[in-house]
Amino acid sequence: MALERTLILVKPDGVQRRLVGRIVSRIEDKGLSIVGMKMLQVTPELSKQHYAEHVAKSFYKDLEGFITSGPVVALVVEGPEAITVMRTLMGKTNSRESAPGTIRGDLGASRQMNLIHGSDGPEAAVREISTYFNSHEIVAAPNALADHLWAKDEH
Ligand code: RTP
Ligand code: MG
Repeated sequence: MALERTLILVKPDGVQRRLVGRIVSRIEDKGLSIVGMKMLQVTPELSKQHYAEHVAKSFYKDLEGFITSGPVVALVVEGPEAITVMRTLMGKTNSRESAPGTIRGDLGASRQMNLIHGSDGPEAAVREISTYFNSHEIVAAPNALADHLWAKDEH
């Protein structure tokens, strides 16, 4: 099974609402590893780079206004199938439709202010990680709990 990395953001609403700790706890509770983490302010330029696929869409102006409205916490999260595991943990884009038990489903009720970003595929993950992190900012260590979290063929 593929050991993957994914780029996660706790969006400005999550930071303002003091939910960083609870969101990070959910990632750790799942057994995933945090191999990079920092707080930063997204600029309009960085937003256009990150959300390149959405720049031409009608909601982009509002999205840029939102994502640049305050600090975010960026993380690189690693684990078996981490991209899909995180997307499942996050829940559907529109928090009003996200299942209970997911981060968005439990903590939010908005389509735009949906607390967390996660890469949606392997190519996006590589692109987004390099957008937010230099290689020296990623500090990987062997996961000492791996044999207790997953069977041999799962990690
Ligand atoms: P993200 O990229 O932030 O992880 O979210 P996502 O994959 O679940 O959703 P995506 O379709 O990529 O949309 C990116 C972000 O734009 C805002 N949005 N607004 N007004 C709208 O129709 C609309 N649609 C999306 C949300 O903040 C969404 O997370
Ligand atoms: Mg997306």
